[in-house]
Amino acid sequence: MQTFLVTGGAGFIGANFILQARSLQWANVVNLDILTYASNLQTLAELQNDPGYHFVKGDIGNSELIAYLLEQHQPDAVINFAAETHVDRSILGPESFIRTNVVGTFQLLEASRAYWQKLSPSKRDKFRFLQISTDEVYGSLRSTDPAFREDTPYSPNSPYAASKAGADHLVRAYYHTYGLPTLTTNCSNNYGPRQFPEKLIPLTILNALDGKALPVYGDGLNVRDWLYVTDHCEAVYLVLEHGKIGETYNIGGRNEQTNLAVVEKICASLDSLAPQAGLHRSNLIAFVKDRPGHDRRYAINCDKISHELGWQPKEDFDSGLQKTVDWYLNNPVWVEQVRSGAYQDWISQNYENRKG
Ligand code: NAD
Ligand code: DAU
Repeated sequence: MQTFLVTGGAGFIGANFILQARSLQWANVVNLDILTYASNLQTLAELQNDPGYHFVKGDIGNSELIAYLLEQHQPDAVINFAAETHVDRSILGPESFIRTNVVGTFQLLEASRAYWQKLSPSKRDKFRFLQISTDEVYGSLRSTDPAFREDTPYSPNSPYAASKAGADHLVRAYYHTYGLPTLTTNCSNNYGPRQFPEKLIPLTILNALDGKALPVYGDGLNVRDWLYVTDHCEAVYLVLEHGKIGETYNIGGRNEQTNLAVVEKICASLDSLAPQAGLHRSNLIAFVKDRPGHDRRYAINCDKISHELGWQPKEDFDSGLQKTVDWYLNNPVWVEQVRSGAYQDWISQNYENRKG
């Protein structure tokens, strides 16, 4: 069986990827995660006795540690999910985004290059470095613009998007300059079980369950293209196994929704699954001050991965949202663990000055 070094595997998408990788026997996994506020090892508790899974607490920017892990575990691929990921946090404090997303990715690339160059020819041919990126690097679309393609020029607008763009450019340079066998995926907004409730969908579900205000930025008509997380993870695996080295692949749900429509759907779902007498949750919607530089619309053209690798999402938005709402209703212990004091501090910091 192959071995993957997965970074950021205690976060939302990385953890879902590892759970799929182990249950579907894609590979043994070494998970390197520094355990920021966004991580939760509880998500991976079911793997604690799995001999094919190994957790290491550490930083992708720690080159000595990375070199040691590569030497010790001899992975067939490095999959870089590790990042600071929340746009609002990048606006209030961009430094950690540059440190992890740009400098950390650079260190990971450097250590991977040194490891890859020393591999035997057959292992060297098979090795892959896969960078998990985002549609946000392409910037913002108008309502009539065509969806982002792999050759759409990068035009990042937030410190988060700029830091991911910087990392992607380094990955590209390592392929062109050193021949490191890299792949990059640019995915749209993910949703599903185990997402930290600072992001729109879990925040709305949990606030709505508590009867709290549902903050919608600006006019609520910004558009995102939503993809269920396990569909993203399957696409990542497919790209890893069959993608052409040096190439990038867009991944999306062909599912554009305004933020207001998303919030209203969650309200309707909860009103039917967890009714509270006299409460129509859409009455909790509160329009609040907009995000600075808020990108108006993202949309992904994922024809390349569909045509070349045969990938299609399995969930549509109704089925995926239903599964997501069910998961948050049925996992109150997980929810309480992540809504710690630090989470409450963030909620005050981000929403206090948006009122009115
Ligand atoms: P997340 O914030 O839920 O998790 C990120 C994980 O990375 C956390 O466990 C954190 O502890 C870890 N991490 C942060 N800094 C680290 C460091 N220096 N060293 C090691 N680990 C570190 O993020 P997510 O939503 O799961 O996103 C994963 C990846 O997918 C990111 O690269 C993100 O840019 C990309 N992405 C996310 C989405 C989305 O909608 N969430 C969409 C497209 C792409
Ligand atoms: O597009 C992919 C990106 O999706 C990933 O690269 C990012 O890591 C991920 O965080 C996500 O970024 P967004 O900024 O699109 O996601 P977020 O859930 O923060 O916001 C989704 C939309 O909802 C966005 O238009 C802002 C809006 N929003 C968000 C929050 C948290 C609100 O209206 N109210 C809110 O309280």
